[in-house]
Amino acid sequence: MKICMIGTGYVGLVSGVCFSDLGNSVICIDKDINKINNLKKGIIPIYEPGLDELVKKNIKSNRLNFTNKFNEAVSKSDVVFICVGTPTKNKSYAADLSQIYNVAKKISKCIKKFKIIVNKSTVPVTTGDQLEKIISRKVSKKMFSIVSNPEFLREGEAIRDFHYPDRVVIGTDNKKSNKILKNLYSPLISKGTSYINTSRRAAELIKYASNSFLATKITFINEISNLCERTNVNIEDVSIGMGLDKRIGSRFLRAGPAYGGSCFPKDTRAIINTANKFKIDLSLVKSVVKSNENRSNLLLKRIKDIMKNKFKNKLISFLGVTFKANTDDMRESSSLKMIPFLSKKGAKINYFDPTGQKKELNKYKNVNFTPSIKKACFNSDLIIIHTEWNEFKSINFKNLTKKKNFIVYDMRNIYSPKKMKIDKIKYFGIGR
Ligand SMILES: NC(=O)c1ccc[n+]([C@@H]2O[C@H](COP(=O)([O-])OP(=O)(O)OC[C@H]3O[C@@H](n4cnc5c(N)ncnc54)[C@H](O)[C@@H]3O)[C@@H](O)[C@H]2O)c1
Repeated sequence: MKICMIGTGYVGLVSGVCFSDLGNSVICIDKDINKINNLKKGIIPIYEPGLDELVKKNIKSNRLNFTNKFNEAVSKSDVVFICVGTPTKNKSYAADLSQIYNVAKKISKCIKKFKIIVNKSTVPVTTGDQLEKIISRKVSKKMFSIVSNPEFLREGEAIRDFHYPDRVVIGTDNKKSNKILKNLYSPLISKGTSYINTSRRAAELIKYASNSFLATKITFINEISNLCERTNVNIEDVSIGMGLDKRIGSRFLRAGPAYGGSCFPKDTRAIINTANKFKIDLSLVKSVVKSNENRSNLLLKRIKDIMKNKFKNKLISFLGVTFKANTDDMRESSSLKMIPFLSKKGAKINYFDPTGQKKELNKYKNVNFTPSIKKACFNSDLIIIHTEWNEFKSINFKNLTKKKNFIVYDMRNIYSPKKMKIDKIKYFGIGR
């Protein structure tokens, strides 16, 4: 099948490469010329385990190509996937759909034969109807079909998630499009992936409802962890005890910092905005958003207590600054709230992240990237484990810092409090 991916970010690049690996001919487009030029040379713009080799392999096999020639790429493709960003609109809860609408206008000028236009970007319910309206201003509705195919991959696990998703959702009433897309996904379906065909609007809503539900689960366990701290209960016991109930399940029940990333924060806000538009009060999701926004303040208050509010000339070391492990994505990471606050309080911050220095942190005074865990923690007063990278899981803290009374604040509950006590290390976790 001839496929075109518009937008070569976390979703478009991974899906495009994986579709090509399944034997399709894929052309990836991006408006960012640097990105395309680098990709042509096999240079990957994001950190995603395993992606590097897969890109090189499929470029070599000539099934994967990169271009910024929009018209040419779209014209010769049978299936066109839209994978551009849908961030939160400035000063609003609404999703900014300008990138999607721009792409739709451009596609409408390149339709000479029937095309399936599949939207993979996360968009509010009824956006597909708008895309159809935009394109039908230029071409007859018989010449195209707009399908919603929400993406559920997780950064850091994206290739595995592409090949073994829990489900593929195809939102369309068009039988021909459904048949072609079912065929495209048949290698995954034959391995046991569930395939569901719904209305386009249902598919759009499945994505937002899923993300809001997962965000709710995280926020729920985070709030329970606050209660654990007050009542001397270990949140890990509560998570295990709850998760063993099959109706609840153990995933997304690990307490930690506020959820962040490029999806949950913006998608929970956007579904509230959409519901408001349709005069529906999503009071539960509203509480989740509020609770999550307050989460970083709560953890900062805990840091103030741990440090007895003395920050002047103290060195705080952050291990991991992205929103979670195994990604380089800084979008809405809770470190972006914590680090500026602590630096303003007068602390010096060293940070180490396996994916390197972050431009988002360059503007802050006394905030420095260090190239190793050792360098970040040398002479540290407080070591904060912010993400759960494997390389943070077996640190010998005593060999790291020269300070006698250093403290470890483990926001991912990686270490055993008992072992830390035996080693005489002042240690704090989340909810225990
Ligand atoms: N990142 C994730 O883990 C994830 C998971 C599931 C769904 N999603 C959704 O998928 C969508 C894309 O997310 P992402 O993280 O891949 O975004 P991203 O910002 O990493 O990538 C989007 C890409 O689209 C390109 N682009 C924008 N306008 C363009 C145009 N007119 N022509 C060509 N290229 C254009 C940008 O240059 C960018 O490279 C969003 O709606 C997001 O919510 C993301």
